[in-house]
Amino acid sequence: MRRKLVRQLDQPLPAAPDDKGSRALRPSDAEALAVLMFSAYRGTVDDAGEGPSEARAEVDRLLGGGYGGVDFAASEVIERDGRVVCAMLVTVYEGLPLVAFSMTDRDWKRRGLARGGLLRAMHRLRAGGATKVQLAVTAGNTPAENLYEALGFVG
Ligand SMILES: CC(C)(COP(=O)(O)OP(=O)(O)OC[C@H]1O[C@@H](n2cnc3c(N)ncnc32)[C@H](O)[C@@H]1OP(=O)(O)O)[C@@H](O)C(=O)NCCC(=O)NCCS
Repeated sequence: MRRKLVRQLDQPLPAAPDDKGSRALRPSDAEALAVLMFSAYRGTVDDAGEGPSEARAEVDRLLGGGYGGVDFAASEVIERDGRVVCAMLVTVYEGLPLVAFSMTDRDWKRRGLARGGLLRAMHRLRAGGATKVQLAVTAGNTPAENLYEALGFVG
C-alpha cells in the first residue's frame, strides 16, 4: 500500500545543514542516478528484483516528465569523492511539489544525507513560494517513513 504524505511549508522548518557536496540536479546526472537508484533500493521493501537497466528506465521516465515536470532548482544531488551518493528528486505533480524520489547509496545510509537533502529542498521550495510538499511512500518502508515523519510529513 502506498501512503500519501504532505508537509506544510508555511509552518516552522528545522534549519537545513550545509553540505559542500550538495549541488543542483542536471540532466547529465541520469546514469549516476540510475546507479544510485539500484544501490539504494536493493533489498528494501520496494525491491521487486529490478536490475540496473530498469533503474535507468525509471530515471529516464522521471527526467522525461513521467512524474510531472522536474524541478531542477529544488532537486539536488549530494556527491562524495566525485560520486553521487544521495539524491532528492522533486517534480511538480498536479500543481504541487512532489518528492518523486529520495535515495541514498547503500554505503552512505544513516549518516543524515537524506535528512539534510530533504530539508534543503524544502527550504528552496518554501523560498520559491510553495506552501506544501507531497510524496508517496510504501507502508512498511520504515527508513523512509521515519525520515518523513520526523520532518513533519503527515498522512
Ligand atoms: C529512505 C532513505 C532515503 C534514507 O536515507 P538516509 O540518508 O540513510 O537517511 P538519514 O541518514 O538522513 O536518516 C534520517 C532519519 O531517517 C530515519 N531512518 C533512516 N534510516 C533508517 C533505518 N534504517 N531505520 C529506521 N529509521 C531510519 C531515522 O529517523 C533517521 O534519523 P536518525 O539516524 O537520527 O535516527 C534511504 O534509506 C534509501 O535510500 N532507501 C531506499 C530508497 C527509498 O525507499 N526511498 C524513499 C522512497 S519514498
